[in-house]
Amino acid sequence: MNFWSEMADTGENRKAVSREILPGVSVYPTPAEVARAAARLFVDYAWQSISRYGVFCVALSGGNTPRLMYKLLASDEFRGQMDWAKVHVFWSDERAVPPDHPDSNYGMARRELLLRVPIPQANVHRMEAEKPNIGRAAHEYEEVLRKYLELDDRGFPRFHLILLGMGADGHTASLFPSTRVTRQTSRWVSTPMVAKLNARRMTLTLPVLDAALRVVFLVAGAEKADALRAVLSGKTDPPYPAQLVQPRDNGVKLFLVDKEAASLLESATSPTASSPHEKIAGTIRAKPRRNK
Ligand code: 6PG
Repeated sequence: MNFWSEMADTGENRKAVSREILPGVSVYPTPAEVARAAARLFVDYAWQSISRYGVFCVALSGGNTPRLMYKLLASDEFRGQMDWAKVHVFWSDERAVPPDHPDSNYGMARRELLLRVPIPQANVHRMEAEKPNIGRAAHEYEEVLRKYLELDDRGFPRFHLILLGMGADGHTASLFPSTRVTRQTSRWVSTPMVAKLNARRMTLTLPVLDAALRVVFLVAGAEKADALRAVLSGKTDPPYPAQLVQPRDNGVKLFLVDKEAASLLESATSPTASSPHEKIAGTIRAKPRRNK
């Protein structure tokens, strides 16, 4: 009998079984449980934002990991819990491909979620990264953000929730290691050329990620374990982009990760550490890699 099997399914909208191994870092047995926890948070944050601001402005993540969450949100179990008319969806980043292209982040979210829930089309704000003049498209997207989002005290648009993934190289959104875009301090939306992909991307910049009320990382898979440990230890130099995301003004940053991605993390919070970061840094000891 282990921790995971003890927490059997307990019925309606069941709670995902998790273990908070570090402040803000929750580990789930499977990617499906990560998706369930993320869907629950999405609904909770939506209601909190709608009751406070009248709307819920959320930036969706691309890549593969959020797909299960989007499917769940569109399911009978979750769809009816949301006031979709008050939800505005945006993207954290996009590939420079048409919306119907298999690599389109918008395309994936549309298939898995947006076509299956009663969200007004006018509330769907995709990044038009396929446009020939992607630089102008980025400016246009900044105007869209200016129209729908409140600005924080530094003049950056404030999302109620930003969903992010993380690559095995520690990139997040389209902020890749050792690229100039990670040093962007004024633009809201940028269009980096990602050499390793030989592709252009459109992405929200770090100041916008840091202005969010809540940032939630979804990370799954053993191939992410090294980067996750590095990001949480805060010891890499230069820091990985995912590590650079530091929501300001009591903004919340959470990691929902699966057991595989957490396989190199040890759950210990040193009581003597002062800051949460030191607590985390203090506990990230190299855990011997399991023999496959
Ligand atoms: C993208 C993403 C990117 C993604 C990571 C993780 O457009 O690719 O926004 O930042 O979140 O690459 O991708 P996976 O979830 O597919 O591992």
